[in-house]
Amino acid sequence: MISKVLALETSCDDTSVAIVTEGGWVLSLVSKDQDLAHDPYGGIVPEIASRNHTQALLPLIEIALNKSNLKFSDLDGLVVTNRPGLIGALIVGLVTAKSLALVYELPLLGVNHLEGHLLAPFLRDQDYEPPENFSYPYVALAISGGHTSLYLVEAPRRYRVLGKTRDDAAGEVFDKFAKMVGLGFPGGPKVDQEARDGDPQAFHFPRVLFDNRSLEMSFSGLKSAAARLIESLGPEQTLKKRKDLCASFQEAVVETLWTKLERAARAFAVPRIVLTGGVSANSRLRTLATQAAAKNGFQLVVPPLRYCTDNAAMIGYAGLERLRVGESHGPDLGPSPTLWPGDFYDESP
Ligand code: KG4
Ligand code: ZN
Repeated sequence: MISKVLALETSCDDTSVAIVTEGGWVLSLVSKDQDLAHDPYGGIVPEIASRNHTQALLPLIEIALNKSNLKFSDLDGLVVTNRPGLIGALIVGLVTAKSLALVYELPLLGVNHLEGHLLAPFLRDQDYEPPENFSYPYVALAISGGHTSLYLVEAPRRYRVLGKTRDDAAGEVFDKFAKMVGLGFPGGPKVDQEARDGDPQAFHFPRVLFDNRSLEMSFSGLKSAAARLIESLGPEQTLKKRKDLCASFQEAVVETLWTKLERAARAFAVPRIVLTGGVSANSRLRTLATQAAAKNGFQLVVPPLRYCTDNAAMIGYAGLERLRVGESHGPDLGPSPTLWPGDFYDESP
């Protein structure tokens, strides 16, 4: 029986290693971000990401094993994110996982990174466990620098895409906006911080909701509106009004995201809502979601930040559940920049 896996995540700019056991118990999770390496460029440089993964991965694996007092021979499987993501970055994790699986004769499973995000609420450790009455089905919004998608998580391994952004991801617009107002990378946490002392009504930014049933999203109009406003204000005023700009911009993103989530929960009569991905760290989103969920009788689950941002624990859990039902991949497993057919079903609501 497969009960303990080593999981590797290198799909973007976080190198992460975890050991996960059945029931979603995280025995160890160690990660290294690359924020300083990408900061001078104001965004992720794929080649730099791959290079940093190459340096960080093996040392992190050693730390993860030591932390949980385990040896390779104690493991039952190797799990790795093989899609979607930056190809060069994925290859680092994939080749490492394949080599270890071969040497230690362990079953291997390539995981869809987004499935990991969707299953994050099931992870548990000494400091966190999911609410007792939390179960399938639930509506989940995966919001990060690379993706902004809304799902109906119906049952294990059965995920329906309800809507996604037609252009930029929410985290990406936070990062781009931060750059426009002179904050560094990654911009999301910096905008969040600035916004705390700003007036969310000071400026008006568009909320793109399409018609009143649509679950699709779009943030490029918001980004252009911000660029126009900042240009008309000029550098001096932009700096002076930065807190208000951040608060107003953040309010537009957060209101749009929550509107879509609530709409989806109502449309599918599902009273459970999950927020996951790096942007779910946003303090205003958390406040608004908590208040609105309480008011409308939804159960809101936001996994702790260590399981919301890119991490190998969520990948380990997703892979473990699949290995346990007999799935595995051979030594010819490849990386993919995009999803595989069948990862999600039904693109339209
Ligand atoms: O999930 P994640 O760690 O990595 C990706 O898969 O992209 O998400 C990172 C994204 C970045 O765009 C970052 O700016 C955003 O999440 N982010 C935030 C906050 N913390 C991180 N956005 C808004 N408010 C935050 N507090
Ligand atoms: Zn992610």
